[in-house]
Amino acid sequence: MWAMKAGHLLWALLLMHSLWSLPTDGAIRNYYLGIQDMQWNYAPKGRNVITNQTLNNDT
Ligand SMILES: *[C@@H]1O[C@H](CO)[C@@H](O)[C@H](O)[C@H]1NC(C)=O
Repeated sequence: MWAMKAGHLLWALLLMHSLWSLPTDGAIRNYYLGIQDMQWNYAPKGRNVITNQTLNNDT
């Protein structure tokens, strides 16, 4: 097992810091969202699938 001396740790931190500060490609991504009003059937089986009750019996 290798042990890192304090001086080596300092150099490693300086090297890592210089790598972190490298510029990235800076890609710009645009996402567009739309809102559409629609009818939604929340119980297509006509039952509450969790309690397995008909909608008339489901409180
Ligand atoms: C749900 O209830 C129906 C009607 O009683 C029954 O046929 C069906 O097996 C039940 N489903 C489950 C997962 O218990």
